[in-house]
Amino acid sequence: MRFDKSRTLADQLEYLVPGGAHTYAKGPDQYPEAMAPMIVRGQGAHVWDADGNEYIEYGSGLRSVSLGHAHPVVDQRVVEALGKGCNFARPSVLELEAAERILALVPGAEQIKFCKNGSDATTAAVRLARAVTGRDLVAVCSDHPFFSVDDWFIGSTPMDAGIPRAVRELTIGFPYGDPAALAQLLQEHAGQVAAVMLQPTTAAEPPPGYLEQVRTLCERAGSLLVFDEMITGFRWDKGGAQTRYGITPDLSTFGKAMGNGFAISALLGKREFMRVGGLDTAGERVFLLSTTHGAESVGLAAACAVADVYDSEPVIETLAARGARLAAGVREVADRWGIADHLQVQGHDANLVFVTRDPDGVPSQDYRTMFMQQLLLGGVLAPSFVVSAALADADIDRTVEVVDAASQVYARALSEGVSGYLVGRPVKPTLRRYV
Ligand SMILES: Cc1ncc(COP(=O)(O)O)c(C=O)c1O
Repeated sequence: MRFDKSRTLADQLEYLVPGGAHTYAKGPDQYPEAMAPMIVRGQGAHVWDADGNEYIEYGSGLRSVSLGHAHPVVDQRVVEALGKGCNFARPSVLELEAAERILALVPGAEQIKFCKNGSDATTAAVRLARAVTGRDLVAVCSDHPFFSVDDWFIGSTPMDAGIPRAVRELTIGFPYGDPAALAQLLQEHAGQVAAVMLQPTTAAEPPPGYLEQVRTLCERAGSLLVFDEMITGFRWDKGGAQTRYGITPDLSTFGKAMGNGFAISALLGKREFMRVGGLDTAGERVFLLSTTHGAESVGLAAACAVADVYDSEPVIETLAARGARLAAGVREVADRWGIADHLQVQGHDANLVFVTRDPDGVPSQDYRTMFMQQLLLGGVLAPSFVVSAALADADIDRTVEVVDAASQVYARALSEGVSGYLVGRPVKPTLRRYV
């Protein structure tokens, strides 16, 4: 298997684009050295790189492509929209159709505003919550890795260069699954917290009663509860985790799979809060999401098509079934090679990640690199094991075969040391202070 063309193109891209990829999570530092494929095309759950290598792909489009690449229903609606122009002096009727379709999927929400990236939506939620409550602090779940590219969140990560201290001090963190810790935080900052933002869960299930307790704590503290459903939306349930668990947040944010890879995201919420960003308010107006491309037709058409597919096909069940098959296969293989304490699959079946641990059981980037190397060489492109509904059982079974072969190498590396099995430098965490 050769990566020559990808390597040349990746070098050229890095010369022109800082970080060698628009999104840091797609960067060459996230892949084994000189084995970072440059993608030419995708179809369903498969992608092809510049050298002609074909891969079964996981985590497609940073989890956005839940139906698979070039999905016929989505593409057809998008092509129809393209033929009619995409941005006008007044809203297109597609904005109304998309609003109705998405709100119908999420029964707890009454109004919606579209945008392009998930960060637009989470940042808008923060501004709206601050305006509604007249408070400055935002509490975010510190066990969840990402909420926004904007200062209010990036200032709380190790990569906070360029963000004023005054902004950084306005975001505070709380651990997931610990209502007492959140209660204490809200008490310590009584009357100051505008919003409590978290993903409803990143694991298979939230701890029993946890989301209910968070809901109650927010009500008592007068803080708006914001569920970030960028990942759980269209994976846990077509109405998101809030629908799955029956907890209604004040605001919620959707993106990623909502457009099956096309650029569309949204802020949803209760009318009493969302209306403050509209014309139906007696108080001071809030500048809530108003951008040139926020409601262009292609993204809206994609979202309508995604809603159609989720309404007419058992996508949620398919994602869960594919994930369950993969998780069971990988666990069986890891067990058989005696590395079950070192190679682990975790998370909801529709959102699986793998954890690679060294001989001491400590999560290891070296072992992650070695494992990804083996996957790539076997034709599996997998920064995670996040499935799409386009994966066939045969794709999953082939992936498990590749993991089987990789596990044999893993077992050897555990006894002999991993360095002899690495082709180059190890991968590194995405959000780090220094290169
Ligand atoms: C949970 C979560 N929230 C928000 C975002 C930001 O979304 P975007 O990259 O579309 O701005 C991400 C991106 O990965 C995410 O995973």
